[in-house]
Amino acid sequence: MQAKHPQESRTTLTDLVLPSETNPLNNLFGGELLARMDRAASIAARRHSRRIVVTASVNHVAFNKAVPLGSVVTVEAAVSRAFKSSMEIFIDVWVEDRESGNRTKANEAIYTFVAVDETGTPVSVPPLEPETELEKQRYDAALRRKQLSLVLAGKMKPQDATELKALFEDKI
Ligand SMILES: CC(C)(COP(=O)(O)OP(=O)(O)OC[C@H]1O[C@@H](n2cnc3c(N)ncnc32)[C@H](O)[C@@H]1OP(=O)(O)O)[C@@H](O)C(=O)NCCC(=O)NCCS
Repeated sequence: MQAKHPQESRTTLTDLVLPSETNPLNNLFGGELLARMDRAASIAARRHSRRIVVTASVNHVAFNKAVPLGSVVTVEAAVSRAFKSSMEIFIDVWVEDRESGNRTKANEAIYTFVAVDETGTPVSVPPLEPETELEKQRYDAALRRKQLSLVLAGKMKPQDATELKALFEDKI
């Protein structure tokens, strides 16, 4: 399968924060942001694989800054590494200043999606070829995150993490 670049899966969703999407402090409700990130990541995974994709895990979420009611929020997602059937998606969340239009990074997250066929069975996805320095950093760190995610999910014993590393490092 021919390798793809992160740019080919990059997905940008921009939307407002409405009153029904806020918590009692009038900031964006965390679950609403998780849903927006899941949607953007799902589109990115689909663009990379051109298959049906499902969320396998949410590996990391940092709610660093509250996002006030009325904000314009942009969620940017792109595949940061592809394995056999799974893809790590890195998501950056930006908030736009109303007056200056400048964007500030508010949050980030990392999700794992798996490409499946019509029966829900995992299928292979194209490899990813990072281009920019940031894409390369995210790519390099993704294997350790996959190992950790599998160990935390109880799908891998910590001692088997080395085996997985050897398997995927052969393919770099
Ligand atoms: C995700 C799912 C397809 C994995 O199926 P599975 O039978 O566990 O398949 P496998 O064990 O072969 O795993 C498939 C891939 O997913 C990866 N994976 C599975 N669980 C993972 C986790 N918690 N973290 C990271 N990767 C994970 C495996 O490492 C494997 O990756 P690879 O093929 O790139 O090496 C299956 O668990 C599923 O359908 N889950 C429900 C998905 C869903 O409904 N999501 C919406 C949430 S409501």
